[in-house]
Amino acid sequence: DDPTADPFALAQQAAAQIAEATGVERHDIALTLGSGWAKAADLIGETTHTIPAPEIVGFSKPALEGHVGTLRSVALPSGKRALVIGARTHYYEGHGVRRVVHSVRTAAAAGVTTMILTNGAGGIKPAWQPGTPVLISDHINLTADSPLEGATFIDLTDLYSARLRELARTIDSSLDEGVYVQNRGPHYETPAEVQMAKAMGGHIVGMSTALEAIAARQAGMEILGMSLITNLAAGISPEPLSHQEVIDAGRAAEPVISALLAKIVAAI
Ligand code: 6GU
Repeated sequence: DDPTADPFALAQQAAAQIAEATGVERHDIALTLGSGWAKAADLIGETTHTIPAPEIVGFSKPALEGHVGTLRSVALPSGKRALVIGARTHYYEGHGVRRVVHSVRTAAAAGVTTMILTNGAGGIKPAWQPGTPVLISDHINLTADSPLEGATFIDLTDLYSARLRELARTIDSSLDEGVYVQNRGPHYETPAEVQMAKAMGGHIVGMSTALEAIAARQAGMEILGMSLITNLAAGISPEPLSHQEVIDAGRAAEPVISALLAKIVAAI
């Protein structure tokens, strides 16, 4: 949390610790597994090492029940190596944006060139029933923050790789896509805020991913973003939202979407 510490040096240090703990010098793909996606870690390949997140510099215990709190090194059948990040720091935890994107920068420092960011989120399109996986086509960052510091004017066109979205659709041609709106949280949106997000061109509301994607682009990685629609956003559904509903929907959808993600990883 030292404001004078270099976040990239910290990521290098974390990557060196991961290399030391796993004996794996380079990872190729990283997956950040959000609500509902955790099972994918078991399906993509063979986990050779599981590291409790607090053992790696810059990572901490998950703030939320239902989040796994480990980093895993997984040997894929293709011979590639995946780094599975089951320890996301959310912006709403209040530790600042550097901590939020530390896992992405660590993955980059570990050699990762493909970053898969997943989350559980609210749907604005009524056709998306809870349990629907959706590809992220673009985002609107409403945190009023950025992981970039100083004069770092990077281009965010095609931030969420069209190539990887196409590839995902070769696995499941019914996959829909939408614009993800990252809000600060931790409260859910009001119905009026959901209407604002919709009027802005948003289709999915959540509390993660956009800031991480910006950091991943800065690091030159190719990005695949996927949301699990755990519930309809406020005012889209007549029912009030509950965190328990979000967790339950994630659990129910987990086997199907995790298998889907594993097939996508195998195709990358
Ligand atoms: Cl409706 N909004 C936000 N911001 N995050 C969510 C959600 C809604 N549902 C699950 N996660």
